Amino acid sequence: MLINTMKAVVFGGRTGLLGQSLVKALQEAGAEVIAPSRDEVDVLDQESVRRIIEEFKPDAVFNAVAYTQVDLAEDKEEDAFALNATVPPLLAAQASRVGALFVHYSTDFIFRGNANIPYQEHEKPGAVSIYGISKAGGEQGLMDLDYERTLIIRISWLFGPGKMNFVQRILELAAERDRLTVVADQTGSPSYTPDLAANTLELIKKDALGVYHLCNTGVATWHDLASAAVAMAGIECNVEPISSSEWPTKATRPAYSVLDTTKFTGKTGVTPRHWRDALREYVEQLTPVT
Ligand SMILES: NC(=O)c1ccc[n+]([C@@H]2O[C@H](COP(=O)([O-])OP(=O)(O)OC[C@H]3O[C@@H](n4cnc5c(N)ncnc54)[C@H](OP(=O)(O)O)[C@@H]3O)[C@@H](O)[C@H]2O)c1
Repeated sequence: MLINTMKAVVFGGRTGLLGQSLVKALQEAGAEVIAPSRDEVDVLDQESVRRIIEEFKPDAVFNAVAYTQVDLAEDKEEDAFALNATVPPLLAAQASRVGALFVHYSTDFIFRGNANIPYQEHEKPGAVSIYGISKAGGEQGLMDLDYERTLIIRISWLFGPGKMNFVQRILELAAERDRLTVVADQTGSPSYTPDLAANTLELIKKDALGVYHLCNTGVATWHDLASAAVAMAGIECNVEPISSSEWPTKATRPAYSVLDTTKFTGKTGVTPRHWRDALREYVEQLTPVT
């Protein structure tokens, strides 16, 4: 599918961490993009979704909306399921009315994370949190709907411009303190949102459908990611490893949720760059050299 002639709607594109990078990548590739704010189109209100899709007649609909507060979701189960499980098939059904491609994002948190081999697309979900279970519910809803022009992209551990994220928060804390403690027994695949956006377009150019895993190459613990960011920013702060039991959170997170991107590379011919290279670019842009 050609991007430069595409009309695209990006839900979550006005303020979302991933959505903003997607809008930028699509616009830079020549697509005509609209990214309604939540006030303009609340995706829980299907009538407003139907209206905008009928009026704009997009070639592609991107769902970068989700209930992403992993800990809060434990107490707000209904809200998490509404956005993460109920909405995706409803949006896909609206996309199908105009024959548009439907691109949905899911997460490594659908996996249990109790092994230490990167997850492939066909592996069974086994989420250990309400957030993960609700996101797996969204995928299941899309499978049940079975709209043939659906692309589900599972991504993980996002950082990037436009919205507060783990890396930016760590750098802010490191600038204020001599010492930080960060969890070192959860392992995943950090993902830079501009790279996810660019690589999403690679999949679309190749007419990919179905489920793909996408992230930057290389694995990390949260401690690895935080230490690397602090070092790259040149901040004097000791980043010390701790275990998850020393940092209790409401939601349980998978211990190992690395995503295998072999299928993505096979389809597109692209190998995502290492997360350290992407992190360097991000940190330089956050802390410009004067
Ligand atoms: N963040 C991560 O580390 C991570 C990891 C793996 C997978 N993912 C997945 O990646 C996707 C994007 O995540 P993200 O972190 O970029 O999300 P995010 O920054 O939390 O953005 C969510 C977006 O959804 C919008 N939104 C929320 N409720 C809405 C509603 N009822 N109607 C319309 N818009 C609504 C928000 O608007 P407001 O700003 O107005 O609330 C915001 O623009 C999600 O599918 C998420 O599950 C994220």
